[in-house]
Amino acid sequence: MKIHIVKDNIEGAELGYSIIKEALENKSLNVFGLATGSTPISFYDRLTASDLDFTDVVSVNLDEYIGIGADHDQSYHYFMNEHLFAKKPFKVNHLPNGLETDAQKECDRYDAIIASNPIDIQILGIGENGHIGFNEPGASFDSTTEKVSLTESTIQANSRNFDSIDDVPRFAYSMGIKSIMSAKKIILFAYGEKKADAIKGMIEDTPTTDLPASALQNHQDVIVIVDEAAASKLTK
Ligand code: PGA
Repeated sequence: MKIHIVKDNIEGAELGYSIIKEALENKSLNVFGLATGSTPISFYDRLTASDLDFTDVVSVNLDEYIGIGADHDQSYHYFMNEHLFAKKPFKVNHLPNGLETDAQKECDRYDAIIASNPIDIQILGIGENGHIGFNEPGASFDSTTEKVSLTESTIQANSRNFDSIDDVPRFAYSMGIKSIMSAKKIILFAYGEKKADAIKGMIEDTPTTDLPASALQNHQDVIVIVDEAAASKLTK
């Protein structure tokens, strides 16, 4: 892993932008794996403020809540439209369909999309508990797209965006860890001291399914962009 410690999320966004700009120039970004959450917003803002052109790029998002549709303002479809797609058109945007009730069918459909669109660069955030996508602690490193139950800590963390904690969906469709690991390059952003334990475990501790992001130690091209607070527990 290559670790970059930046001053703040604006500097982090600038670094992420420069990697994407170069990849587009070399034509090595045809499929772009995207993430939601508060963390990548500054990065998406940097992309939308630029003149980068994504009209030949396919996007594939990590996950979507189950039970809410694209027009729900907390759905990840809505988030992506608002923060990126409405301003930067892509060739096509893929996200799991949160309204599909047949989980097997939806997971198979999404795995087929990933198989036919191998991800060149995957953007990741990280949960306080070390999740990536909605792969919560205990998720197999061999997982592909699955219907997952959100843990209490994730429901709690995400409830800030809903009127009430009871409104937070309990399930999601998420790309699996194996699917994430199949991306050629991964860029993970983390800011703030709440992420410090997860970042320490991801980078310095022995990989374990208790901390899903630690699987990334086995990937050969991971760029970690963190601020000082998120890096504060690193010892090496
Ligand atoms: P956050 O979420 O960016 O809103 O902190 C990150 C994540 O849970 O992956």
